[in-house]
Amino acid sequence: MSVGVLFVCLGNICRSPTAEAVFRRQVADAGLAARVRIDSAGTGAWHLGKAPDARAQAAARQRGYDLSALRARRVHAGDFSDFDYLLAMDRENLAVLQRMQPAGGRARLALALDFAPAAALREVPDPYYGGPEGFAQVLELLEAAGAGLLEELRGRLP
Ligand code: 4NP
Repeated sequence: MSVGVLFVCLGNICRSPTAEAVFRRQVADAGLAARVRIDSAGTGAWHLGKAPDARAQAAARQRGYDLSALRARRVHAGDFSDFDYLLAMDRENLAVLQRMQPAGGRARLALALDFAPAAALREVPDPYYGGPEGFAQVLELLEAAGAGLLEELRGRLP
């Protein structure tokens, strides 16, 4: 049995690739890499095929994550049956997913920070138009969300 998690933001070049890399490492460290499929996608189409934003890559590298191989893609209808969880970075992107979800889609839609109840924020702020501190905050929030999500998945995976 395996479980699939898709992280979703607007551009798929800042927040969701960071979430993907963070959670991939947390899952590998837990010895569950073969049981959890992880990907990321964007609701917007501006950056398709692009590597993550250089600032997101730099902030991630400082904490030991390598985002360089990731390429932006857009969320599509098949994602709602291919993944068990579609986790949005903010309410705007969650609303897009809720509108897109096909009838009978099995994916659970939620905010990524629903898995970090102790975090000060409920949404991961868009760092694109801000400074480097925004990218560091994204990492901190997503490390907390990934830890909470990992606990939930441990309970689901026999
Ligand atoms: P992301 O950040 O959704 O975290 O990847 C953004 C990237 C690009 C844009 C906005 C947010 N943009 O407007 O191009």
